[in-house]
Amino acid sequence: MSGNKHSFGFIGLGNMGSHMARNLASYAREKGSPQVLLWNRTAAKIEHMREETYCDIASTIEDLARQCDIIHTCLANDEVALDVYRRILSAARSRTILVDHSTLFPTTSSILQAEAAKVGSSFLSCPIFGPPAAAKAAGLLIVMSGDAEARATVGEYVVPAIGKASLDCGDETSKGALLKILGNNCILGTIELLSESFTLAEKTGFDPNLFYKFIETWFPAPSWVNYGRKIRDGAFSGAQGFTIPGGMKDAAFIRRLGDESSTPTPIIDQAWSHLTTAKAIGGEGLDWSSCAAGMRVTAGLPPFKGEDFSMDKSRNDVNGSVKD
Ligand SMILES: NC(=O)c1ccc[n+]([C@@H]2O[C@H](COP(=O)([O-])OP(=O)(O)OC[C@H]3O[C@@H](n4cnc5c(N)ncnc54)[C@H](OP(=O)(O)O)[C@@H]3O)[C@@H](O)[C@H]2O)c1
Repeated sequence: MSGNKHSFGFIGLGNMGSHMARNLASYAREKGSPQVLLWNRTAAKIEHMREETYCDIASTIEDLARQCDIIHTCLANDEVALDVYRRILSAARSRTILVDHSTLFPTTSSILQAEAAKVGSSFLSCPIFGPPAAAKAAGLLIVMSGDAEARATVGEYVVPAIGKASLDCGDETSKGALLKILGNNCILGTIELLSESFTLAEKTGFDPNLFYKFIETWFPAPSWVNYGRKIRDGAFSGAQGFTIPGGMKDAAFIRRLGDESSTPTPIIDQAWSHLTTAKAIGGEGLDWSSCAAGMRVTAGLPPFKGEDFSMDKSRNDVNGSVKD
């Protein structure tokens, strides 16, 4: 590494990673660093970025690992992260810094931290809070955990390059992973409560727009306002959100932590059930705010209002109830 001129890589350009990589590329250009090297499983999805951003595309993970001294990742789940990281570590130069933004179970983060240390690299668990729109606007909250020196290096640019704030959880990557799961307990709990409240408003004949105004006025936090709007409108497309499989992965983490520590998680158990119903009706492409669709069905309402996301359109009668 020479001064601030790091050679950056980014692996995992999904709903979140694509925006983060773009912002990292802008930072790299500004600092006179080499172009950010990208790799995504589905290469066709990122081909256009070569034209639009300060980046190049690596043909393999190993090729990227050989050329970069700081590699960011944002991957679907633990299994994918273990697989991708083992490929990175098989080729990475010693002293490479690995910055993972995926939401992983704490023990997975600890395993990756130990495996990276064995080959002289530093694995940081840096999960993120905020939806894709916040990733696009470099408005994420970034959790930082792992080796102190690597944390300091990455801490110098992640805010403002890809986020608006960071929270330091210290040397153990499991603590960063844990904070992300605790935070998602709050977010999914909020979605569950909003699902219930908007359903109750509709069943009692209260104007949902006025109820939303109350939310904006009295609970002006991003999760309440953003998920409240999606639930009011039935805007459940996962294309620029957090899809049900991702949401259920995180709900499973919360329930597993509850199970392992003998802590009941009844709100998340309910949300799990509503997400299962939403997935059965609308499929895996829905955003996790579609928890509200599952809730609506339990109250005898059609799952969707506004856009009809049913896989079997004949089942969602928006003027009546779900057809048998
Ligand atoms: N969306 C949110 O609101 C949000 C917010 C905070 C944190 N997160 C976390 O951020 C991470 C990414 O979420 P996302 O919403 O961006 O998910 P996403 O859009 O589904 O992207 C997942 C990424 O993982 C890659 N991937 C999946 N399976 C793979 C495999 N077998 N081998 C290699 N790569 C594979 C995907 O590649 P392809 O493009 O080829 O499918 C894609 O790049 C997750 O851990 C999630 O929990 C999400």
